[in-house]
Amino acid sequence: MGDATTAGRPETATAPETAGSVPPGLDEAGLRLDVDGAVATVTLNRPERRNAMTFATWRGLAAIGRSLPAGVRVVVLRGEGPSFSAGIDLGMFSGGGGGEGFTDGADAEGTDRFIAELQEGYTWLRRPDIVSVAAVQGHAIGAGFQLALACDIRVIAEDARFCMKEPALGLVPDLTGTKPLVEIVGVGRALELCLTARTVLADEAARIGLAETVVPRDGLDGAVRDLADALLAVNPGAAAATKRLLWQAAENTLDEQCAAERREQIGRLREVFGS
Ligand code: ACO
Repeated sequence: MGDATTAGRPETATAPETAGSVPPGLDEAGLRLDVDGAVATVTLNRPERRNAMTFATWRGLAAIGRSLPAGVRVVVLRGEGPSFSAGIDLGMFSGGGGGEGFTDGADAEGTDRFIAELQEGYTWLRRPDIVSVAAVQGHAIGAGFQLALACDIRVIAEDARFCMKEPALGLVPDLTGTKPLVEIVGVGRALELCLTARTVLADEAARIGLAETVVPRDGLDGAVRDLADALLAVNPGAAAATKRLLWQAAENTLDEQCAAERREQIGRLREVFGS
């Protein structure tokens, strides 16, 4: 969105999605969706543009979230070709890539609504009924880095390179990335990374918590499959309840978290042992 400097209306009307249906227009949005049982794989699919993303891409991601079949429990985000994603399609800065013009943000309310709509492409990845996994190879820049941050778990290849480029372009990261970045690396490191727009290589990414696993480039798909299998081996209700607990832990007091654990466990006990 050019993070915050852009506004506009959808260039194409999209039909409402219903759970289990494939949203229309994914091809044009540079996306592919493959659902195999309980695993949905969302592929950023513009390798000739290094999976640069447009407004349509973010709307397409939101539509996928809304229409995900009920049985899906693992969502893998991956990129076709050498890069996970080169971030926003820079053609949009000249109005050429997304079919929509940029504004100077003069219409603050309209711009706020517009950005909120695009952020929906990222926020659903935290839903407790799924575990989202980013499979990152090559570059994950700007909006691409933020997409990886929006996922619960990041599995990366040895050639992965993260860069938060927005401030270098005069913008802020506004696709939900600032919160997970700070949660993972702390404010100081987040400031250093964002305000220098330096590139973080795979080794450092693993060291500072930006990646759970680093694997050789040709082992990425296999590592993600193994992870999905392991995640699916866990009881779905326990997985959702545990995800709810873990994501609220940082903001809860100890007392609040203890109470949340008791509440969730009562539900588990009823399901596992109840008649
Ligand atoms: N937007 C539009 N087109 C892009 C983008 C992009 N973000 N990134 C790459 N492309 C295009 C290139 O223009 C090139 O097109 P061409 O074949 O017509 O010349 C093609 O994709 C391949 O790109 P190369 O630069 O040749 O690929 P390489 O592997 O050498 O480099 C890299 C990849 C590092 C990602 C580089 O393309 C790059 O720096 N891109 C810009 C990244 C960027 O600044 N993104 C904005 C971040 S801010 C935000 O997301 C809000």
